[in-house]
Amino acid sequence: MADEPLVLGIETSCDETGVGIVRGHTLLADAIASSVEQHARFGGVVPEVASRAHLEAIVPTMDRALKEAGVTLADIDAIAVTSGPGLAGALLVGVAAAKGYALAAEKPVYGVNHLAAHVAVDTLEHGPLPEPAVAMLVSGGHSSLLLVDDLARGVTPLGATIDDAAGEAFDKVARLLGLPFPGGPYIDREARAGDPAAIGFPRGLTAAKDLAAHRYDFSFSGLKTAVARWVEARQRAGEPVPVADVAASFQEAVCDVLTAKALDACRANGIETLVIGGGVAANSRLRAMAEHRAAKHGIRVRVPRPKLCTDNGAMVAALGSHLVAAGVTPSRLDLPADSALPLTTVSV
Ligand code: KG4
Ligand code: ZN
Repeated sequence: MADEPLVLGIETSCDETGVGIVRGHTLLADAIASSVEQHARFGGVVPEVASRAHLEAIVPTMDRALKEAGVTLADIDAIAVTSGPGLAGALLVGVAAAKGYALAAEKPVYGVNHLAAHVAVDTLEHGPLPEPAVAMLVSGGHSSLLLVDDLARGVTPLGATIDDAAGEAFDKVARLLGLPFPGGPYIDREARAGDPAAIGFPRGLTAAKDLAAHRYDFSFSGLKTAVARWVEARQRAGEPVPVADVAASFQEAVCDVLTAKALDACRANGIETLVIGGGVAANSRLRAMAEHRAAKHGIRVRVPRPKLCTDNGAMVAALGSHLVAAGVTPSRLDLPADSALPLTTVSV
């Protein structure tokens, strides 16, 4: 439909400079420049390096997105930008760019929540989200379960990780196994040749005593330590480490807990739709296990294609488009970059 809003989204919360353009729920452009290779040798994202890379990439990525969509800045109805949460210096680059473009082209600007954008991106693939839904966000920086009553105005947190994020656990275990950074995709690949039942790694916060206080919370630091102890014991004994089996058994433990808690949240709240987003949602085992288990309870799982699961500008544009359609008031031009923006704030 030509009268649907044409929205441009800017994402710079971590190491991906993303500019996406959507019309309604239709994706027109998804330009990304990643600084991941500059961080690889440090085994994690270095904030100053990420900020510098965003600064260099933002204008060319913007130009690339406009060209890809075949539109000009004058055609755009609104600009959305990740206001937080994320790395302060990295967020600032995107927010400053959005303000500059909005001011120059006289467009409304929406400062949006990165996590809500991870949920909204699924509308580009599967259409409007039935509400209420349960969303599980699993990435390098966050692991949360949310109740989505009205994505335009607020979401209710159900639980979150109490220590490492799911993606962080993948990255740390990969490092332990000598796999490159970021480790998630490498564990995913190694695990295909391994036996998920080879080693019985712990399932954090699933014992009856933990469920009382932490029914929808996650903990992955004990699992990471258990993998480290297991690998060290092997090495001390002078035996080779079966990388594929360790990867598969670790991945199984993570996916088991994530899917069990997400589906428990759906069933306890009488909800039939589970949306999964964030970089770890690209994991092949997580996708398969969630679908298999959900089907038994008549629950529909929606997961966007892997490229839309990791950070990108399209997700920010998708949320912006949803806000415009819902008649939400744009942000003020002095909108903040808020590294600790709470989950309950969808737009600032
Ligand atoms: O959403 P994202 O791109 O950035 C953050 O907001 O953190 O997520 C990145 C995380 C990394 O920890 C990466 O290892 C993980 O997502 N990841 C995966 C897979 N692809 C990316 N984890 C498991 N399996 C994958 N296939
Ligand atoms: Zn993210």
